Amino acid sequence: MITRAGATVVFADSDGATFTIDPAAVEAAITPRTVGIIPVHLYGQPAEMDAIMAIAAKHKLWVIEDCAQAHLARYKGRQVGTFGVAATYSFYPGKNLGAMGDAGAVVTNDGTLAEQMTMLARHGGLVKHQHRIEGINSRLDGLQAAILSAKLPHLPAWNRARQAAAKIYDAGLNQIEDVVVPTVGADRTHVWHLYTIKHPRRDALAAHLNSRGVQTAINYPTALPFVEAYSRLKARPEQFPNAHHDQSRILSLPMFAEITREQQFEVIELVRTF
Ligand SMILES: Cc1ncc(COP(=O)(O)O)c(C=O)c1O
Repeated sequence: MITRAGATVVFADSDGATFTIDPAAVEAAITPRTVGIIPVHLYGQPAEMDAIMAIAAKHKLWVIEDCAQAHLARYKGRQVGTFGVAATYSFYPGKNLGAMGDAGAVVTNDGTLAEQMTMLARHGGLVKHQHRIEGINSRLDGLQAAILSAKLPHLPAWNRARQAAAKIYDAGLNQIEDVVVPTVGADRTHVWHLYTIKHPRRDALAAHLNSRGVQTAINYPTALPFVEAYSRLKARPEQFPNAHHDQSRILSLPMFAEITREQQFEVIELVRTF
């Protein structure tokens, strides 16, 4: 989307502990041509928003928060999506709040931006046949909206269930040799879209779990600077040491609101025996 908007993508490394963007790396990447910062609240954990907002203020940059994995997560008690000028949400079926097909939303407190974004999404106008700008067709499908409206009231309870499940994984896994359980930064309320551990023999561990019927995922096998689409940037591992280090070690364990304790104990036991 950055490229589509006519801008140049500049990546910044993750912090090595929380998987979220490293404010120091953001600051180091700023040039006179920088216009904004897009922190991702990855896996359901808020990025370090105080530091990011301070950098943005200092350099007069906008911030757009990517809340796709972090519905209702909080930083210092304040909900993500309320720090930047706007925030984006995904309601892809697997998300903490998921539709039955693709869906998403943008939120903002800025009335002018809200109007512009609404126009963009509706063929460039707010009133039928009055196309004030060249837009696209990106309306939220009515059926998906109805499904999301029915599910929305349950989101806080589903997040709490994920938080309880994360505690069980933490307690069961944190003493196991070679397993690094997720680190949650100070003052951050994680909503556990994903529970992602690190392990030096990640692929063998994944194969072990998968062979015993436990599905795992790698989110993500290739960090963004190294994906083919950005080969033009010629990213080198030493520019993004944490993301590069983590991409071969991360493994997401089963995590969803309905997971049972028994299922989790089975996963923990399989990791232990491995
Ligand atoms: C962090 C993050 N950003 C953006 C997206 C894109 O969302 P969508 O697939 O709904 O376009 C996703 C999920 O796919 C995501 O996890």
